[in-house]
Amino acid sequence: MAVFVFKKMASTNAECKNPCYAHGDAVVAVEQTAGRGQRGNTWSSRAGENLTFSLVWEADFLAAKEQFVLSEAVALAVVDTLAGYGIEATVKWPNDIYVGHKKICGILIEHDLGVAGRLARTIVGIGLNVNQVEFEEWIPNPTSIALLTGERRGTNDVFGDLYEALERRFEQLKDARQQVQADYLGHLYRLNKPSTYALPDGKRFRGTIRDVRPTGELLVEHEEGGFVKPYLFKEIEFVIG
Ligand code: BTN
Repeated sequence: MAVFVFKKMASTNAECKNPCYAHGDAVVAVEQTAGRGQRGNTWSSRAGENLTFSLVWEADFLAAKEQFVLSEAVALAVVDTLAGYGIEATVKWPNDIYVGHKKICGILIEHDLGVAGRLARTIVGIGLNVNQVEFEEWIPNPTSIALLTGERRGTNDVFGDLYEALERRFEQLKDARQQVQADYLGHLYRLNKPSTYALPDGKRFRGTIRDVRPTGELLVEHEEGGFVKPYLFKEIEFVIG
């Protein structure tokens, strides 16, 4: 494995598409000019203040239909790292990292499929707010390690801790996948807590998250009617605040 640090680049996820990067390689950017988020959003991060990096994983021991567990492992590695700094984080399904009701880290995972329906190459992109204490207004409910602890941390040190946590969780994917799934559920934001959600047409409803399927669907019990419905990403939004 090797770590490549760039002063400025468009997006570390885009850079990792280059096949020169192999399993375990990481690309770190001090500044991204076109950081990409989920749902086609941009990822904004002040130059030099935070961690913005991607790494390549080759997890061909996983079938494409098992890809959600990989996303669980990545989210847990971030939770593990923050726990080391005394920060208790949760995972907002599918893989935002929250502290209280605020987002501290976003994750963007992109898979290439290989032969026989297996994963070939995965790009794991992580944006973790470390030292930034002021955010642009359009960013919903952000927080950072510095805001939570009152202390600045070296981004290189945080990268080292997170990289090690990622390695540990990757090993678990090989031999203790069920533990990864159990830990994910154990850290799930709003599990068993009645809350408000919105559907793509804007309609709101009250419901309670009861479980997450191994394939990734969120199982929400509707207050009205009492039925449990599976949701895919983009089919449901959390109403926060
Ligand atoms: C999200 O929308 O929550 C996901 C954000 C992911 C941001 C990271 S920053 C490093 C990597 N490179 C990108 O362009 N995006 C990811």
